[in-house]
Amino acid sequence: MTSTLLTGIGELVTNDRPDERSDDPLGVRRDAALVVEGSRVAWIGPAASAPAADEVVDAGGRAVVPGFVDSHSHLVFAGDRAEEFAARMAGTPYAAGGIRTTVAATRAATDEQLTSHVARLVAEMLRQGTTTVEIKSGYGLSVHDEARSLAVARQFTEETTFLGAHVVPADTDAAAYVDLVTGPMLEACAPHARWVDAFCERGAFDADQARAVLTAGAAAGLRGRLHANQLGPGPGVALACELGLLAVDHCTYLSDDDVAALRDSGTIATLLPGVEFSTRQPYPDARALLDAGVRVALASDCNPGSCFTSSLPLCIALAVREMGMTPAEALHAATAGGAAALGLTDVGRLTVGARADLVLLDAPSYLHLAYRPGVPLVAGVWQGGRPV
Ligand code: NIG
Ligand code: FE
Repeated sequence: MTSTLLTGIGELVTNDRPDERSDDPLGVRRDAALVVEGSRVAWIGPAASAPAADEVVDAGGRAVVPGFVDSHSHLVFAGDRAEEFAARMAGTPYAAGGIRTTVAATRAATDEQLTSHVARLVAEMLRQGTTTVEIKSGYGLSVHDEARSLAVARQFTEETTFLGAHVVPADTDAAAYVDLVTGPMLEACAPHARWVDAFCERGAFDADQARAVLTAGAAAGLRGRLHANQLGPGPGVALACELGLLAVDHCTYLSDDDVAALRDSGTIATLLPGVEFSTRQPYPDARALLDAGVRVALASDCNPGSCFTSSLPLCIALAVREMGMTPAEALHAATAGGAAALGLTDVGRLTVGARADLVLLDAPSYLHLAYRPGVPLVAGVWQGGRPV
């Protein structure tokens, strides 16, 4: 097995908190080195005492952070909605109904077109440091189109999510559609998915419908996650906490009871600030969540409607500038937080035995991720121990 020594790391973010009481959640080490063997991290320590290795890479005093873990994306689609975005910037509010425009384009695309489009977006993410990505279906909304969307997604990640309950397709009865999602569509999709999700929001699915989808998904072996409280207050976050889901996503409009439920259940609030940036809605109050002891993740929500960015560095910068997170909290949420939201323990951290997914920044410190928004700071990415 080939070993590589990455040395001269001015600042290494491990996410290995020295101890529970430490105020450094990032486990930062200075003047560090790291040895990769095969696909894993084999050694971490001071550069001065690094062991020999087959190859040596000098980071030149720059910062190294764990690869970003994007726990929420909708990459399987065709077409775009740039006109809708332009109209929104001119004052038309965001409405979930635009999803149906993308459904029509996605149904009309071939498997090859969908696959090459996802490949392009995954490569775009990788260039920006995302080494683990979750991908949802949700623009097919028929048994055939949801199943093929997931089969496409599965070529790129094991973290695939069945989102047949995205919206009710045009000219379809809602109750009949929920029966389809919880019956034949779930049966066709479950073999390609690890997770099941629903859009619990006024204009999409109510709490009873979302509960039915999550319960049926669980019976088919899929773990649940939920889109909730994005466009207004609602029952979704409470439902996610009651069901003990690992993560509930958006969390823009929360009541005090929702915050208490998140804290008590341990359900992770995944915040998606690119959405608020692109829809001009208020940002979620990350500070209040963190101060209440809620676990927080940051993800892109990359999709053609509410947020067409694949950039976690942008999301980190927005979380710091607009949501009251410290740069350390934001980076932690986009790495260890995303991993926790997917139930993964070997990514989102750089510790011995973890997958060697790491990002070399063209900067002396991770602080620059928030400090220099919009600047392409990712100078190198290793995924599974290999430079990409
Ligand atoms: O997560 N909230 C629902 N779904 C997507 C938006 C999809 C779209 O507008 O196409 C989201 O924001
Ligand atoms: Fe989403």
